[in-house]
Amino acid sequence: MTLDRREFLQSAAALGAALALPAGAAPARKTQSIDLVPAEFRVQLDPASPARTAVWSYNEQFPGPVLRFHRGERARIAVRNQLAQETTIHWHGLRVPNAMDGVPGVTQLPIPVGGRFEYAFELKDSGTYWYHPHQASYEQVARGLYGALIVEEDKPPKVDRDEIWMLSDFKLDEQRQQVEDFGRILDIANDGRRGNQILVNGLAAGPERKIEVRSGERLRLRLINAASARFFRLSIEGHEAMYVAFDGQGLEPHPVLTDGIALGPGMRVDLMIDCMGKPGGRFEIRDAGRPKASGTVLGTIAYSTQAPVRAKPLASSIAVPPNALPEPNLAKASDHYIMFQGGMRGAPVIGTVDGKPSRIQDIMAKQGLAWTMNYNAQHEHALMHEPLLTLRSGEHVLLHMVNETDFQHPMHLHGHFFRVVAVNGTANPRREWRDTVVMAPRSSMDVAFVAENPGEWMYHCHILDHAAGGMMGTIVIE
Ligand code: C2O
Ligand code: CU
Repeated sequence: MTLDRREFLQSAAALGAALALPAGAAPARKTQSIDLVPAEFRVQLDPASPARTAVWSYNEQFPGPVLRFHRGERARIAVRNQLAQETTIHWHGLRVPNAMDGVPGVTQLPIPVGGRFEYAFELKDSGTYWYHPHQASYEQVARGLYGALIVEEDKPPKVDRDEIWMLSDFKLDEQRQQVEDFGRILDIANDGRRGNQILVNGLAAGPERKIEVRSGERLRLRLINAASARFFRLSIEGHEAMYVAFDGQGLEPHPVLTDGIALGPGMRVDLMIDCMGKPGGRFEIRDAGRPKASGTVLGTIAYSTQAPVRAKPLASSIAVPPNALPEPNLAKASDHYIMFQGGMRGAPVIGTVDGKPSRIQDIMAKQGLAWTMNYNAQHEHALMHEPLLTLRSGEHVLLHMVNETDFQHPMHLHGHFFRVVAVNGTANPRREWRDTVVMAPRSSMDVAFVAENPGEWMYHCHILDHAAGGMMGTIVIE
């Protein structure tokens, strides 16, 4: 085995550090040990109604517990599967070693019913993340298996409150139970299975979902879209919110414009809000996403009647410090292409299914596949297929994504962040880092990254019904 220069420097530094430590000294980094138990249990989604809804989630909490770390800590997370199905946990956005990525059939065997699996990794990057299964995710995530994972910055911007809003939805019947119609081809081939009840932190969205503040306070609001197919578009009445991070990665703060805060499935947005309203004030947070569902008013910023804590907003910076992500160099990047086709609307598509050329529209109902990537449709986690791309470790990559479908797709790459370089051939001035990005219908998008993390990484649409219906492939980094 040969070490490259960086690895060599790292191991030399590690050796130096080891030599400098007195014998028996504790390592500087702390390890948090956590137990997660996925299971079915009942919860009251609406405190104003007695109905109890069966959900699948973790540790009898819905959403699952918020996992909080400091950057550089290590996590050891033992999962005991109490579900009636196999499962795994994927740490969405975290740069973990491939074997810890939680993808059944690719990075690990699924955790059997009654089985146990231990995940262990270092928290390399600060930011707002989340966790969810990667096994039959179109059903398991839709039933409620998700939780927030927060990694604190070394020097976080000063705020008075730090709140998480995990947004999702459920498809409920009259008894307020989940409709068990997961994996229908109609959803797979269209916009995915969307619920009729929006949830904020696992409770029915509405004016009663309050963020309690005191006038003058600075609020950091972390939004996570854990819905399996719903796109949100939020507006906050009476406040100027500032974007400070996308998908956990700090960026130059800039104001939310009137088109609202867009969040595709899987995505996160961190906002900073100086709450300068009058004591006792109430301001709604609304969703303009489609289709409308119960809970278009998601919640309220509710001011206490106490006197303001300060007359003017805090003067300190709201910027979230960036993580040390490897910077792609476009001058030496290699070009790669991934093209998307399929769906119920649009031109007929010829693709390869299980090695056979097929007309996708003809096999939809029988095979449950409706989408192709680079002319290939595959079932979730099918191992017999070729990776979409094979990259060299350390390769600088300019990935051209071409969406030839009539649908939008939130595309997610595991184990890496990429810079959004261009949209429809026009340079994107902000070049933000993302791990999930929405491609508009019939559009193209160029993203750049360094293929730094060896292994086989999923690349898929985060409309989980699309992922199940062919928009799921892998990128191998050798
Ligand atoms: Cu949020 Cu492949 O996952
Ligand atoms: Cu999609």
